[in-house]
Amino acid sequence: MAQQISSSTTVTARDVIKSARGTPTSDGAGVKLTRVIGTPHVKNVGPFLMLDEFRSDEPQDYLAGFPDHPHRGFETFTYMLAGKFRHRDNKGHEGVLGPGGGQWMTAGRGIVHSEMPEQEEGLVWGFQLWINLPASEKMKPADYRDLQPSDIPTATLPGGATARVVSGRVGDVVGPIAERKTAPLFVEVQIPAGGEAVIPVPRGHEAFVYPFEGGVSIGERALARGELALLGEGDEVRLRAAGDAVRALVIAGKPLGEPVVQYGPFVMNTNEQIKEAIRDFQRGEF
Ligand code: CO
Repeated sequence: MAQQISSSTTVTARDVIKSARGTPTSDGAGVKLTRVIGTPHVKNVGPFLMLDEFRSDEPQDYLAGFPDHPHRGFETFTYMLAGKFRHRDNKGHEGVLGPGGGQWMTAGRGIVHSEMPEQEEGLVWGFQLWINLPASEKMKPADYRDLQPSDIPTATLPGGATARVVSGRVGDVVGPIAERKTAPLFVEVQIPAGGEAVIPVPRGHEAFVYPFEGGVSIGERALARGELALLGEGDEVRLRAAGDAVRALVIAGKPLGEPVVQYGPFVMNTNEQIKEAIRDFQRGEF
């Protein structure tokens, strides 16, 4: 009996089951970026359809920005580390995303927006993550939430590491993004040189880690900066800064288990719904 109780309460660390480097590409009107998820090597991870890292201090890499373009059927989260982007959309929303802040946008049934650099020189660095919506919510009204740096709470972990929690929870610290069907966990973890961090990841979530400053070790696996690690099942992920200090994204979500039919910025469940999305967009019904 005692054994049963102890085995049912055992906490399992998630291991790395696959690692991959991103693919250099460009998007928008010619912004250079690295596609980490949404490539032939790593298509989707749970509800996550795409992860891009954009990082350049060469204005010609980002000045063209992302002029007006549509989205339907999913959510985007843009997380800024350096530089500024101005968002504007056809619902009358406008805002500037700056370092340490971001924007969670629910495209729902449709939105047309632009994301343009708010600077002509200097470093621009950040991420855009695409999160799928369940079939039942793909046609809900568009919505968005701008996050200032102070909107994102920080959890202090044993051993000197910290975790900024955008979505989901780390201990008692809960991110500002409201609970949803995919139950996304989006955490930026910062670990001092030689330190460790343990981030709880709910069982059943598909999860990955992306170190973007310094290399990180998970179990026996050492990952370089820019090396995506897909995690196996478990209750938590244990990260170690074996060399320099580390900054990494820890992201996880509940898989939807529904068909994904993607055509550029439209992500639906059937081909018919994609045709409908194109038709609605062309008729100006976004
Ligand atoms: Co967009």
